[in-house]
Amino acid sequence: MKFESTDRQIRSFVLRKGKMTTGQRKAVEALMPIYAFDPTTTIDFKALFGNDHPVWLDIGFGNGESIIHAAQQYPDVNFLGIEVHLPGVGHLLMAIEQFGLNNVRIIRNDAVDMLNLYMADQTLAAIHIYFPDPWHKKRHHKRRLLNQEFLDLIQPKLVTGGRLHYASDWEPYALEVQELVAENAWLQNQEPNNAFAARPAWRPVTKFERRGQNLDHGSYDLILHKR
Ligand SMILES: C[S@@+](CC[C@H](N)C(=O)[O-])C[C@H]1O[C@@H](n2cnc3c(N)ncnc32)[C@H](O)[C@@H]1O
Repeated sequence: MKFESTDRQIRSFVLRKGKMTTGQRKAVEALMPIYAFDPTTTIDFKALFGNDHPVWLDIGFGNGESIIHAAQQYPDVNFLGIEVHLPGVGHLLMAIEQFGLNNVRIIRNDAVDMLNLYMADQTLAAIHIYFPDPWHKKRHHKRRLLNQEFLDLIQPKLVTGGRLHYASDWEPYALEVQELVAENAWLQNQEPNNAFAARPAWRPVTKFERRGQNLDHGSYDLILHKR
């Protein structure tokens, strides 16, 4: 993985070493060349998936639980997952093989760079950001993925009517995003009064959400559509 040559200094992740299981390592070796790719030019989704089904992008998919769940539930949707953490990529690759998920592709890189450099306008039907790193400490808030700069970046990439779905268990971050989206008239909250939404069918409870639940955190979903 090479980080692209944008001049960004602040990233929303710190690359952890993370242990790989044997299965994950084998999956990375054998399946990365088939299901993962490293873009060098604007992504042609039709060529990538071999059809023109809508594309749902999952940013920071962790070990891929949400994609594994939704890709089976929605076979007529194409899923692009972007994640930097290699064991998580390995986990998703194993599931792709195990469940025969032909509608999933992976990029192992910084999603912000990938959006900036390689995604054409009006190509994404949905962007899912589930339990992004909360960056609890005030001095780290600048690392939070969801901010105005990020919304400006994704606005053109979403198709009209396309969805932004954010979920978090960290209330202060969720409240910050709730306020931020209200300031962006191009985003329409599907709930009245800019309220949080109930967890929809396409989002399973993931490891990170369960961890939050064990700490008595709530879950906060915001589901918004591009006007
Ligand atoms: C707390 S985990 C949540 C994982 C998963 N979405 C879930 O709900 O279980 C956040 C993940 O986002 C990834 N991440 C953070 N910033 C990223 C970026 N800019 N590009 C790609 N992945 C990123 C991290 O590596 C981490 O695995």
